[in-house]
Amino acid sequence: MSVKFDILTILPEMLRGPLDESILKRAQEKKLVEICVRNLRDWTHDKHRTTDDRPFGGGPGMVMKPEPIFEAVEELKRGSPEAWVVMLTPQGRRFDQQVARDLAVRKHVIMVCGHYEGVDERVRQTLVDQEISIGDYVLTNGALASIVVIDATARLVPGVLGHADSAKDESFSSGWLEYPQYTRPAEYRGMAVPEMLLSGDHAAIAKWREEQRRQRTRERRPDLIKDDEQ
Ligand code: ADE
Repeated sequence: MSVKFDILTILPEMLRGPLDESILKRAQEKKLVEICVRNLRDWTHDKHRTTDDRPFGGGPGMVMKPEPIFEAVEELKRGSPEAWVVMLTPQGRRFDQQVARDLAVRKHVIMVCGHYEGVDERVRQTLVDQEISIGDYVLTNGALASIVVIDATARLVPGVLGHADSAKDESFSSGWLEYPQYTRPAEYRGMAVPEMLLSGDHAAIAKWREEQRRQRTRERRPDLIKDDEQ
């Protein structure tokens, strides 16, 4: 199983660093994910490679023109009719682990990154399958958001993480936050690691961790706790 991502942006250079490091880099080398950064300007036809224009009706800022986006997505979809078209926008569905899981089982995802004040409404009406927001704040561009979505999605593709790490997602999907972790030294600047973790009693440690997760979730993220788990 592998997922192909096409990222359509006017800022391709912004994405090189994060895609060419660490786990995402290895996942691409192992052909578990394919990530192609596409410069939207390659689908313009004028000398200045224009991708934006003034809004009809007036107002501040610029709006992304429909033509390059339509032409690019149509070309990227050619021979790949099952491709899923995502647009990154603060108006989309809030991104979470479930959205990442749904994307991770797709074969081909095309990501349309918004810039400026917005994107011509006809793009979302007829070209886009799903709009995703990575949180309730406004970024300068959707390219940054696309990296977050791809990173969280790629690590769920089988084989991208080692076996030990992939179990981690299971624990997140239970809805509880992680328990506190410690490593050596057992005492640092007067701060001691909880005695329990040095006991070697694996059953007791598992119980302690479970309690810690629940307590932490109750304190920090009560919204994650389902009604039947209170
Ligand atoms: N573009 C600008 N802000 C964004 C956000 N919060 N999520 C996704 N795309 C965006």
